[in-house]
Amino acid sequence: MNTSIVERRPNGQSEICDGERYTLGYSEGEFKRLQLQGDFVRDLTEDVLRRAGLKQGMRVLDLGCGVGDVSLLAGQLVGPGGSVLGIDRSQDAVKTAQRRAVETGQCYWVRFASADLASFVPEREFDAIIGRLVLMYLPDPAATLRRLAGFLRPGGIVAFQEMSMPFARSFPETPLFMQVLRWIIEAFVLTGFETDMGGKLFSTYLAAGLPAPQMISGARAEGGVESLGYEYIAQTVRSLIPAMERTGIATAADIGIDDLADRLRDEAVAHSACIMFPPMTGAWTRLP
Ligand SMILES: C[S@@+](CC[C@H](N)C(=O)[O-])C[C@H]1O[C@@H](n2cnc3c(N)ncnc32)[C@H](O)[C@@H]1O
Repeated sequence: MNTSIVERRPNGQSEICDGERYTLGYSEGEFKRLQLQGDFVRDLTEDVLRRAGLKQGMRVLDLGCGVGDVSLLAGQLVGPGGSVLGIDRSQDAVKTAQRRAVETGQCYWVRFASADLASFVPEREFDAIIGRLVLMYLPDPAATLRRLAGFLRPGGIVAFQEMSMPFARSFPETPLFMQVLRWIIEAFVLTGFETDMGGKLFSTYLAAGLPAPQMISGARAEGGVESLGYEYIAQTVRSLIPAMERTGIATAADIGIDDLADRLRDEAVAHSACIMFPPMTGAWTRLP
């Protein structure tokens, strides 16, 4: 199904990584969606960070922290005796993340700063560098990992979790869900970002000169009336509407965004369908 979408990827667009063309944008709605996504995949991320060896007292750098979900999760694992620094290009995202750190009482050891990863130079050494759904947006993720791994202590951890969007599906296959999945994938492809960074993690680690990572993939699979998944999908589409309109994929009117979550729910329930969300692949390794 997705082959045709991938073939439409425009050549030479991989450098379209500036904030203005960032596919999901930086609206208040997107910040709320990130928090919903954070809740939705939290256990999958926590599992990867624990497997990677994050523990009390560690100093952690979180790349592309958004509104802070992974940083705050890491903050719980390292505790007040450790520290987390979350970095994001968006000043608004960083402000929201800071506010959340205050609200959760973690602001003494979980901090945030605004910087582009292309030029960010840490002022100190870390025990771990982590990130979720960020390498997919970088023009050369291996180069960024190689450079920033230079700020890890010997034995330091590199742990990332990325998606494989083309492997999402519903069973049985349902038309609205499949249409929405195609729209989402196409929006990322046509704005020049990687839809299967999960699949590329292993080779990216090797290209960065890191030891071969251990890896695990997991996905939420949900159906029924109560699932949060329909709202998560609809909010994702809402954030993507400007990119979809810009690239000619679909308009807000085509999408019918206002009742999209309800229509996805009704369709899934009518077909007793299970939605298999995109696998989230985690990869972790340690420096020699
Ligand atoms: C999909 S969000 C994920 C946020 C967070 N890691 C999470 O899982 O909730 C991707 C984030 O990466 C940030 N990002 C992408 N490219 C970046 C760059 N070159 N420098 C800094 N931040 C970047 C974006 O601003 C955005 O906040």
